[in-house]
Amino acid sequence: MTQEVQTSKETGTTLVDVKGLKVYFPIKGGIFNRTVAQVKAVDGVDLFIKRGETVGLVGESGCGKSTTGRAILQLIKPTEGSVKLNGTELTTLPSDEIRKKRVDMQMVFQDPYGSLSPRFTIGKTIAEPLENFKKGNTKEINDEVAHLLEVVGLNPYFVNRFAHEFSGGQRQRIGIARALALRPSFIVADEPVSALDVSIQAQVLNLMEDLQEQFGLTYLFVAHNLSVVKHISDRIAVMYLGRVAELCDSEELYELPLHPYTQALLSAIPVPDPEKELRRKRIILEGDVPSPVNPPDKLDCSIILLFKILHAREQSDACH
Ligand SMILES: Nc1ncnc2c1ncn2[C@@H]1O[C@H](COP(=O)(O)OP(=O)(O)OP(=O)(O)O)[C@@H](O)[C@H]1O
Ligand SMILES: [Mg+2]
Repeated sequence: MTQEVQTSKETGTTLVDVKGLKVYFPIKGGIFNRTVAQVKAVDGVDLFIKRGETVGLVGESGCGKSTTGRAILQLIKPTEGSVKLNGTELTTLPSDEIRKKRVDMQMVFQDPYGSLSPRFTIGKTIAEPLENFKKGNTKEINDEVAHLLEVVGLNPYFVNRFAHEFSGGQRQRIGIARALALRPSFIVADEPVSALDVSIQAQVLNLMEDLQEQFGLTYLFVAHNLSVVKHISDRIAVMYLGRVAELCDSEELYELPLHPYTQALLSAIPVPDPEKELRRKRIILEGDVPSPVNPPDKLDCSIILLFKILHAREQSDACH
């Protein structure tokens, strides 16, 4: 399986191909509740993900990462653009065909507390997609649930417990087991470790890497800081105000961060050496991010201007 994944990564078969993706949310107002403006949450995203690859999607809060992930999975209907999964155009598929495609594409959610039903045992939570898609009789499904629990590092003995009896990290493992149940090829992980303690974050990230090899998975991994996606991603897309400001190999990004916003994100990563950490210069971008309701025509202009001002300030500080 591992070899298969590596081969397709090398040959570069595209599994997910996104072109010109836009998602606009209407803002209603006035006495007739008409659409008075639109939030341009995603405003022309182009992205491809090769089979077996992990693409990290980073950017600050509100830049449109979750909306992009959901629109790719057709959990939100895109306003415009094309999303192909394994060559099939998803945006024009009728809803019953989309439902069938769910077998191949799944989501792991950010909030391990809110994303699991409090009324279901974890056995039922993981079995539900298998039952919905009639993937075997009761015994086969129970066996599969026990297997999935083992795969994500939980004791199958816990099968009859409820979500509230588990820690955050364990709950996220349950969410991952549920996402894996239908054996998808593509998973959108929306900030899967952001709500977890730092030590637990590493465990869940390692688990996701192991599962990628074991099951030949392709990930779109959403995070709001680069340090989380640094190790897991083959390529990183930096999103800013509904668009991809930068997309390159993760190694390349650290050597030559081109976009000022990327540089600011990189400078925010703490260094695990106290002396270097003390000397680390953080680039703080000033001002507010422009509103996605009325974004600037040229994405780069405002942020480049800010960066130039900051750079000039840093230089003059150094001279004094
Ligand atoms: N259902 C909705 N209706 C209206 N506006 C929305 C809706 N969902 C998201 N938005 C807006 O779209 C923009 C992008 O939101 P999104 O949740 O994709 O950001 P994000 O990058 O995932 O942020 P975070 O890091 O905080 O999760 C935001 O301005 C948000 O307020
Ligand atoms: Mg989000």
